[in-house]
Amino acid sequence: MIQLEAVRKSFGSQIVLDGVDLEIATGETVAVLGRSGSGKSVLLKQVARLLRPDGGVVRVGDVEMSGADKSTVMRVRSSMGYVFQFAALFDSLTIGENIALPLRRAGISAEESRTRVIDVLETVGLPDQSDRYPAELSGGMRKRAGIARAVVARPSYLLYDEPTTGLDPVTTAVIDGLMLEMKRDLQATSILVTHDIQSAFRVADRLALLHGGRVRFEGTPDETRSSDDPLVRAFVEGRQELWPPDSV
Ligand SMILES: Nc1ncnc2c1ncn2[C@@H]1O[C@H](COP(=O)(O)OP(=O)(O)OP(=O)(O)O)[C@@H](O)[C@H]1O
Ligand SMILES: [Mg+2]
Repeated sequence: MIQLEAVRKSFGSQIVLDGVDLEIATGETVAVLGRSGSGKSVLLKQVARLLRPDGGVVRVGDVEMSGADKSTVMRVRSSMGYVFQFAALFDSLTIGENIALPLRRAGISAEESRTRVIDVLETVGLPDQSDRYPAELSGGMRKRAGIARAVVARPSYLLYDEPTTGLDPVTTAVIDGLMLEMKRDLQATSILVTHDIQSAFRVADRLALLHGGRVRFEGTPDETRSSDDPLVRAFVEGRQELWPPDSV
């Protein structure tokens, strides 16, 4: 389970999160939507304790992340896959080496690692790219390599930050399929941050809309589709860019 309770986060005088409550049950996938700058990445980073909240509680399983000591945080992170919004691969390592990192940390043998890296690269549609360096790949390919690295160790928790943004529809469908597979096979407890409402509908059990520093709406795909909240409607209909900031 992942739980956020009354989470607040500001940068200087800018209040980004102003009391976020969100619970993701074990095995559940919740999509977090919201306009650019609404604090989706900030929310996700607090779950991995890459950022600490100013107030409130973030729990992953039975661990209260903001108060946990370093070794506890490392233990939780080793059960977590994180797809960063901007891939965040190590430039000096090949794609294969990047993807093998979580396996090495988990103490998996070099031989087993090689097989798993080949398999996962195949799954994300990057066969034969293992020996190339991140700089030699396109943005979309790097993104897929980042996804491969996040899922390769079969984690209990998965945090996806815009995994399909900038990908073509075919690759998006492949990544959606991969997320569904992770959900089905690993019962991974997952947060999917996305602008892509169709991807959210395909993959998520519930959707949450972040607005004004809080969760403005939460519901199943069906509840989301039938909501008459104008902001939800704007997201469902793909008109979110038409909303000027703070007009709703
Ligand atoms: N480390 C930081 N220092 C200062 N301000 C930050 C920091 N990280 C995020 N912010 C600010 O917090 C706000 C929310 O940022 P965040 O990256 O969470 O947005 P987002 O919802 O993920 O947007 P996008 O959809 O564009 O990725 C932004 O105004 C951003 O400038
Ligand atoms: Mg973001």
